[in-house]
Amino acid sequence: MSNETNLSFIHRFEPGTDAGQPPLLLLHGTGGDETDLLPLGRSLAPGAALVSPRGRVLENGMPRFFRRLAEGVFDEADLRQRTGELADFVEGARAAYDLPAPIAIGFSNGANIAAAMLMLRPEVLAGAVLLRAMVPLATPPAVDLAGKPVLLLSGMADPIVPEENARRLADQLHQAGAEVEHAVLPAGHGLGQADLTRIAAWLRSQRLPAAA
Ligand code: MLT
Repeated sequence: MSNETNLSFIHRFEPGTDAGQPPLLLLHGTGGDETDLLPLGRSLAPGAALVSPRGRVLENGMPRFFRRLAEGVFDEADLRQRTGELADFVEGARAAYDLPAPIAIGFSNGANIAAAMLMLRPEVLAGAVLLRAMVPLATPPAVDLAGKPVLLLSGMADPIVPEENARRLADQLHQAGAEVEHAVLPAGHGLGQADLTRIAAWLRSQRLPAAA
């Protein structure tokens, strides 16, 4: 475990023990921090390296990855800037820890910035698990996500993310060429066992080719 802070985000790093597993970039929800998703990442992918940054925006003292004007209404200029900063951090972490491109696992606010990163800096991520994500940018930029694997898990009773919005995000990613698996689960905004089972199965299908 490590906390090398010449990188630009406060973060936790846990090395992997299985080179066949892509590293996971863990992105917490509003009010979370760099410790939140470590147990989830460790249980979902026991041998994977974990990189878990803390969002640098504070909303009433709660860490987030970008500013919002109201619930579900984003400050897009800030989102674009913060997405660039987070992407630069990921590149720095890859160099510092000698990692291949990670798969992002983001929840809520973390899922929204992961979706923005797919659209604005697609080369940074090998794929993404977007948990209760919504459309991050009013006008999706033209981007080539050919073959990029994305698992999007939504809740049919989510009071924050309307199902139509989640379907629009799935459609935008699909139109850009991503290999999108989208499930709308009988759930609200919080995660449940059905999410964990789906994520674990999806991650098992994302193993890296064995090193030569
Ligand atoms: C966001 O602001 O990213 C979404 O409203 C989700 C949340 O963090 O509540």
